[in-house]
Amino acid sequence: MPARVSVLLTPGGGTVPPQATAVVVDVLRATSVLTQARLNGARAILAAGTPGEALALRARHPGALLCGERDGRRIPGFDLGNSPFEYGPGTVGGRTLIFASTNGSQALLAAGRARRRVLGAFVNANAVLAAVAADERVTVVCSGKLGGYALEDAAFAGWLVERLVARGARVEGAAAAFARRTAPRDAADVRALLQGASHGRTLRSMGPDYARDVEFCAGLDTISQAFEV
Ligand code: MLT
Repeated sequence: MPARVSVLLTPGGGTVPPQATAVVVDVLRATSVLTQARLNGARAILAAGTPGEALALRARHPGALLCGERDGRRIPGFDLGNSPFEYGPGTVGGRTLIFASTNGSQALLAAGRARRRVLGAFVNANAVLAAVAADERVTVVCSGKLGGYALEDAAFAGWLVERLVARGARVEGAAAAFARRTAPRDAADVRALLQGASHGRTLRSMGPDYARDVEFCAGLDTISQAFEV
């Protein structure tokens, strides 16, 4: 039976089959950031839907770091915001992260029932492909932005769908067919796409540190490992 691949363009865009592998995507910036965090030794990631839920989780995990953003900025009183440059090994190594971002956390929670949850981002795109290529059923869960789809997330989903189809997978649903049409061809496409996407432009308008984050998130295959959460 060929593998099957589907896409949710937003966390509410459907359900994740419990037997599926979920690839959770928030390219700008949550899953790019969390991939960097896991590369730098973060031990576990606990998604929280709201800052209040994050605080309640911290009460149960006293040594955990409170991480996340609202409107792209670190939540007051939290340890870390949502820039990959905050998640160095000296900060996150061995730590549990409680993570409450606006959209990325919703996608992580929506994928909670999946058999596996793999972080998806352009920074480790080929490692993600290798990690899920043998799975019977893959659902890409895009974060989108505030209930609408995000071009950068759909583009990553399309990039992955293209390569899974090339390995014999069967596409399921209109969202996956749409995502395929947005897939970037190469690293230059990825960079242009993220710089031009709505959220990329918003982040770049927030100052040089945020613009540097967009550049990081656009770095195709700068990380050679994939991570489950
Ligand atoms: C999100 O979760 O909506 C994004 O990661 C927001 C951000 O860029 O910080």
